Amino acid sequence: MQGLITLKSRHEQNLMREAGKVVAGCHEALRSFIRPGIRTIDIDQFVEDFIRRYRMEPAQKGYRGYPFASCTSVNDVICHGFPGEYVLQEGDIVTVDMVAVHKGLHADSAWSYAVGEVSETARRLLDVTRRALYIGIEQAIPGNHISDIGHAIQTYVEAQGFSVVRDYIGHGIGRQMHESPEVLHFGPPHRGPKIRKGMAFTVEPMVNVGTYETKLDPDGWTARTADGSLSAQYEHTLIITDEGPEIITKQDGE
Ligand code: MF3
Ligand code: CO
Repeated sequence: MQGLITLKSRHEQNLMREAGKVVAGCHEALRSFIRPGIRTIDIDQFVEDFIRRYRMEPAQKGYRGYPFASCTSVNDVICHGFPGEYVLQEGDIVTVDMVAVHKGLHADSAWSYAVGEVSETARRLLDVTRRALYIGIEQAIPGNHISDIGHAIQTYVEAQGFSVVRDYIGHGIGRQMHESPEVLHFGPPHRGPKIRKGMAFTVEPMVNVGTYETKLDPDGWTARTADGSLSAQYEHTLIITDEGPEIITKQDGE
């Protein structure tokens, strides 16, 4: 998404913070809701009800024709998985991605969950991907370049023996769900736009056990790892302040 990077006013920031709190609260509630035996469509209903209870809207529903309030991406699905009749099994991992819009302002967060007990590899993938998110966020300070975020993420993830997805990236956010700048999770540092106070953008690394290459299902949305390996994702929305990145989708205990 190219174009001007909009700086958010104090009023816009406050509306985004309110939306961020609801998204974070929904993820906190999903920790105990997600368990073996529930369907991914049950997660979607939970997300939609939760956001609407706060008089906000699930912004993904209808976005470019996307049919659901959430994306539920199981195992080898990287992102944009359709909720449906699939019943979660012990050992699965599932990423739930959601966006709340409040009086025109958006907040976006995706989180991966273990369903019951998961394999050692799955556990390590979740830990590395979540750690990668925060390693990226640490770089989101005024004066750094946006590309410093992705460089730090890629360096860490590859040292752990996993790969970073290149086909899906983070993005500016505010009055639109997707704005400038593009936030890559890989690549060289010190390139492109500088990070400034008042910017708002997501950091949302998707990490695969095997190849970083992706393939798209015939539904035109569901993105999978090309080799069928597991994939995880953690995403926060940030507002840049003088003090550094403020995580507006921060969850309790995180
Ligand atoms: N929340 C996703 C993101 O991080 C957007 C999903 S695309 C949609 O960019 F169509 F599902 F909204
Ligand atoms: Co998202």
